[in-house]
Amino acid sequence: MQEQEVRVEALLSEMTLAEKIGQMCQIHVGTLGWPQGEDRIRRGQAGSVLTVYGAAKINQLQRIAVEESRLGIPLIVGNDVIHGYRTIFPIPLAESCTWDPGLVEEAARIAAEEASADGTGWTFAPMVDVCRDPRWGRIAEGSGEDPFLGEAMARARVHGFETGDLASGRKLVSCPKHFAAYGAAESGKDYNTVDISERTLRDLYLPPFRAAFDEGAPTVMSAFNEIAGIPASANGFLLHTVLRREWGFRGVVLSDWNAIAELIPHGCAANLKEAAEKSVLAGVDMDMVSDAYHLHLADLVNEGRVPLSVVDQSVRRVLRLKLGMGLFERPYVDESLAGQVILRPAYRQKALEVTQKSMVLLKNSGGLLPLARDLERIALIGPLADDHHHVLGCWYRIGRDQDAESVLDGLRAVLPSTTEVIHVPGCDLEGRERPDLEGAARAARAAGLAVLVVGEGEHMSGEAHSRAYLGLPGHQQALAEAVHATGVPVVAVLMSGRPLVIPWMAEHVPAILQAWHGGIRTGRAVADILTGATNPSAKLTASWPRTEGQIPVYYAHKNTGRPATGAGTVQFDKPHWSIYIDEENEPLFPFGYGLSYTRFEYRALAVETAQVGLDGTLIVSAAIANTGDRPGDEIVQLYVRDRVGSVTRPVKELKGFQRVSLAPGEERQVRFEVPVQRLGFHGLAMEYAVEPGDFSVWVGPNAAEGLEGAFAVIG
Ligand code: NOJ
Repeated sequence: MQEQEVRVEALLSEMTLAEKIGQMCQIHVGTLGWPQGEDRIRRGQAGSVLTVYGAAKINQLQRIAVEESRLGIPLIVGNDVIHGYRTIFPIPLAESCTWDPGLVEEAARIAAEEASADGTGWTFAPMVDVCRDPRWGRIAEGSGEDPFLGEAMARARVHGFETGDLASGRKLVSCPKHFAAYGAAESGKDYNTVDISERTLRDLYLPPFRAAFDEGAPTVMSAFNEIAGIPASANGFLLHTVLRREWGFRGVVLSDWNAIAELIPHGCAANLKEAAEKSVLAGVDMDMVSDAYHLHLADLVNEGRVPLSVVDQSVRRVLRLKLGMGLFERPYVDESLAGQVILRPAYRQKALEVTQKSMVLLKNSGGLLPLARDLERIALIGPLADDHHHVLGCWYRIGRDQDAESVLDGLRAVLPSTTEVIHVPGCDLEGRERPDLEGAARAARAAGLAVLVVGEGEHMSGEAHSRAYLGLPGHQQALAEAVHATGVPVVAVLMSGRPLVIPWMAEHVPAILQAWHGGIRTGRAVADILTGATNPSAKLTASWPRTEGQIPVYYAHKNTGRPATGAGTVQFDKPHWSIYIDEENEPLFPFGYGLSYTRFEYRALAVETAQVGLDGTLIVSAAIANTGDRPGDEIVQLYVRDRVGSVTRPVKELKGFQRVSLAPGEERQVRFEVPVQRLGFHGLAMEYAVEPGDFSVWVGPNAAEGLEGAFAVIG
């Protein structure tokens, strides 16, 4: 450490102002033009590049930085490695439905191995934005609606990315994003205004970031959005007060793409120079592509508007990062390595496991699933039935269609050759072409059983892809109705990057499997689940609305003064309560929900600590029994409610979960130990504290069900 600081100071003392500012600039060579980009690097005017893929290209740029720039400071190369590099895993939202941080960590580790072997040193991940609005396309990239689960996933991913011993001999660094509250965009529109209370910010949106930094994440990306009038990339409260002062973060703050220049359309900077001034003073160390620092920071320093000490601090952080990664010792990557590392069979195998554990069985009336293995015929219908592209999901980057298995491939691989698979797309994804509803119905009738693979394309979620209607796009709803109208049993396999709105399907189609965008092993995972080779175990991490009009709908809502569960207050002559007059309050599928081919029973809740001190540990257990006839995994969830607080509290909050594997007939005591200090919140004084008083506690299979008990925290 000491030695590193000495090197940092030595380098800093040699740098001109222009070279210092260079370290604060991240450029996109593709946009600048390759020769111009190379020139910037040669002149020491770029400390980082993004979105350059492949060891050869990266080495080429690195050679210019190391061998041709005056000081030879290596570049740090950043890429969006969001859910796998070449071995594409399920989208992060799907991964979170495994409720298995260990597995998610392994997926991140594989992504790190592949990316690092191919030259990448920095991943713009994990995305840890909590989101309660499925219209927002970027819900696909996060871990859903809950901060507690979000923390666990943030820690797992950072740990997976950051742990050393990569085949490249280098380190991959993570960059939790988007700091902060990007997931609270009004009306679910990307980049939109965020206006939330400081309490909501601190209790809901910040905890996964804090967890990521506690796990060692050394960088962070400042978000596009404003919060209560102040864009995050010029927000001194977020970047100085919270991040550096309260949390002691010593790493690098990178702006999101062009976010500094976007202070101008936000209306908080008159021009690029003022934007640079505001961002750098707020604490943004590195400018992603806007060139605000490149063009204006030197003048701002020379005019005395930005102290040189601010620039020096940012440069120190960037140099520390590079030194800590070993970039000075190992600037180049062995160009033959990627060929040995990428798509290793063990990685494909791990991807299959993650994918299987991420798919949520939403409905299975009459035990339609699993399918009999000796079927004579099966109709495989839908625009996604033989898809090798959309399964990759948003941000697949260098992922390739050729690596992916479609559902058709998967079924062909697992069904006996005697089973005839009649494949009919029926319609395209978006309704551009005339649908062939009759052909689809004919196939269903001929087979006597239809598997319908429908949903969203990869381009319908992710950045800049919000939707106002969350049903099946194009003619797919008509297709589903036409197939259902044949009277043959229908299994729906849904693919999407978000919770969908499917009230008709939930009522009429007997079996529904939510497959998300499951990555390259989607097809095989679906086939294994449909045929029962794998018992589904995943559970939702974001509530599924009945209608777009319910959004935001989430389990940890407040009770209000007139809760729907009470009798309402009679005002004038009628009860008035917090409900819709034309729709239920509850979502179609709640947070934590998912079915299995076996059954689990929850028995005998025991609150071992009916009274517990502020520094104590809450201990609650329940017996979970597998009363079905197959082995299965159950994700057991613990929720609490703080009955009375100095400020109002949610009706339920997740505080524990465990994935348990049970043989048929097996019963297990599942025990939760929750440090009481985890039951706090930001109260009246806006300080995190646990308030003594009465709590309810539930252990259950999802946020809407469970065995209930009580305990008290004593002061
Ligand atoms: C903009 C996105 O918001 C961010 O998540 C991503 O990392 C950058 N672009 C770089 O591609």
